[in-house]
Amino acid sequence: MKQSMARRSSRLLVLVAGAAALLAVAAAVAVPPTCERIECPAYEVVDSANGFEIRRYTDAMWVSTAAIEDISFVAATRTGFLQLFKYIQGKNAYNETIEMTAPVLTEVSPSDGPFCASSFVVSFYVPAKNQADPPPAEGLRVRRWAGARFAAVRRFGGFVADADVGEQAARLDASLQGTRWAAAVNEGQAASYVVAQYNSPFEFSGRVNEIWMLFDGAKVGSHVN
Ligand SMILES: *[C@@H]1O[C@H](CO)[C@@H](O)[C@H](O)[C@H]1NC(C)=O
Repeated sequence: MKQSMARRSSRLLVLVAGAAALLAVAAAVAVPPTCERIECPAYEVVDSANGFEIRRYTDAMWVSTAAIEDISFVAATRTGFLQLFKYIQGKNAYNETIEMTAPVLTEVSPSDGPFCASSFVVSFYVPAKNQADPPPAEGLRVRRWAGARFAAVRRFGGFVADADVGEQAARLDASLQGTRWAAAVNEGQAASYVVAQYNSPFEFSGRVNEIWMLFDGAKVGSHVN
């Protein structure tokens, strides 16, 4: 009798612990569904609050275009995407085909060029299989994300239009004000930010995009190292 009661209460404890674990997972924004189908870079959620998530990304290789000057985010991303798509289809020094990954990153920086152009760098994450030796390619750069790569992230849906980019970045910036991340993000951002897109142009529903502001986590203090 006593034993069965003990067993029942221990079963109850397991249930309670399970529910608590589920709640803890639900507090962070779920990983984009695309990443259940294709490979995405690994990250850990360090903090999340209303309107933003703070992530720590694993040190990894990315392949990037040269800077593309354009007045349109959408046009520059398309230009860069096509170069990188040819790269993964085998237009590289090893003639090697590489698996598609997500997200497609577009780094946006203001440029001193004419007509209010901005400068865009488009990047693909190199899949784990090719991390040790990504093929070089003419006109592209294979880069390592060095050091403490933290990102303040805001998620939004739909097809990204030119007008969305600045607006979503401003909203992310506003949501960070008054938090312990604000100073480090401001410093790391250096007037540029990144748009991450997780879906192909042929997917019309459930599209996931994010604004990332990259920063050095070491600047925030030892409790995040
Ligand atoms: C890649 O393909 C080109 C054209 O077919 C060929 O000339 C070159 O030798 C190939 N390179 C490698 C590393 O296989």
